[in-house]
Amino acid sequence: MTQIGEVAEPNVLKSIPSPHLPARRHCLDLDDYSRQEIEAVLQNATVMKDVMHREIRKVPALRGKSIVTLFYEPSTRTRVSFEQAGKILSADVINVSSSGSSAEKGESLYNTALTLQSMEADIIIVRHPDSGAPNFLARHLNASIINAGDGSHAHPTQALVDLYTMASHADRLEGLRVAIVGDIQHSRVARSNLWGLTKMGASVVLCAPPTLMPIDFLGGHHSRSNNPFTSVEIETSIERALEGADVVMALRLQKERQDAGNLPSLREYSRLYGLTPKLLEKARTSVIVMHPGPMNEGVEIDPAVAHGPMSVIEEQVANGVAVRMAVLYGLVPATRHRD
Ligand code: CP
Repeated sequence: MTQIGEVAEPNVLKSIPSPHLPARRHCLDLDDYSRQEIEAVLQNATVMKDVMHREIRKVPALRGKSIVTLFYEPSTRTRVSFEQAGKILSADVINVSSSGSSAEKGESLYNTALTLQSMEADIIIVRHPDSGAPNFLARHLNASIINAGDGSHAHPTQALVDLYTMASHADRLEGLRVAIVGDIQHSRVARSNLWGLTKMGASVVLCAPPTLMPIDFLGGHHSRSNNPFTSVEIETSIERALEGADVVMALRLQKERQDAGNLPSLREYSRLYGLTPKLLEKARTSVIVMHPGPMNEGVEIDPAVAHGPMSVIEEQVANGVAVRMAVLYGLVPATRHRD
């Protein structure tokens, strides 16, 4: 019988498939993940989900390792799920936010992260308003870096959570029609999902008003020569975007990142691009509705959709812990190199 303080089921992770992939040191975006590596993370997340449903949710995979979450922007889901994931894997987890740290006295990101590394942080999970901040740290530090969202650039673990949630509702990701609707311009979630979904063979429709679509995606076929996402359709009509969709992902309107003139008004945006039960009739009857959160209910999504029968939004949150456990577990060989 397991005693209090003991780590339960030390062999549970032996059921994790070993896909003979190269050890991964950082998780910065999905652009450098192969399809096989994404599949391995999703499979491992299922094993991690089993761990979470055990009476004693603890395995020793990261025992003796230190994880620091270093957040320069607010977060609920990502920070808490990483903390919970690290603790279930037996790591020591320390949370640092820019507010209340020496960043408030003007310490640079580099010096803050270097300080944390000097205190033996093995993995630093960073969220930052500047695109590329995690990549910068990965180039200059020895610790493993996980990108928990940088500017409008990338949010790879959210995309892995989304892929996992879609895969648990469909036989396969290949051929799935996924409509991503809303503030594409500022969405790191949309960008990382684009990498993940296209690598897994899904077809993606991006839908936004022209002012909230990245400039290099506009212009139809012309734009495709400028970006690697050849299976991606660009649509400004939400009705057409939702036609036959298996998955509809609504995005948060990022009020904190808007330039003047992007939107006529919130009411107008909501009227044209808010996801309603009526609009969902355009999609497949089996459609699932996703949102990475936090939601602006009544702006990009009607509360009746957010909390309706097609919504898997709470499931996305629940999957966040298991998927982030799988991501952390995938970095274990890299952290062992420094032993
Ligand atoms: N999806 C997401 O990143 O949510 P948080 O900002 O709450 O972490």
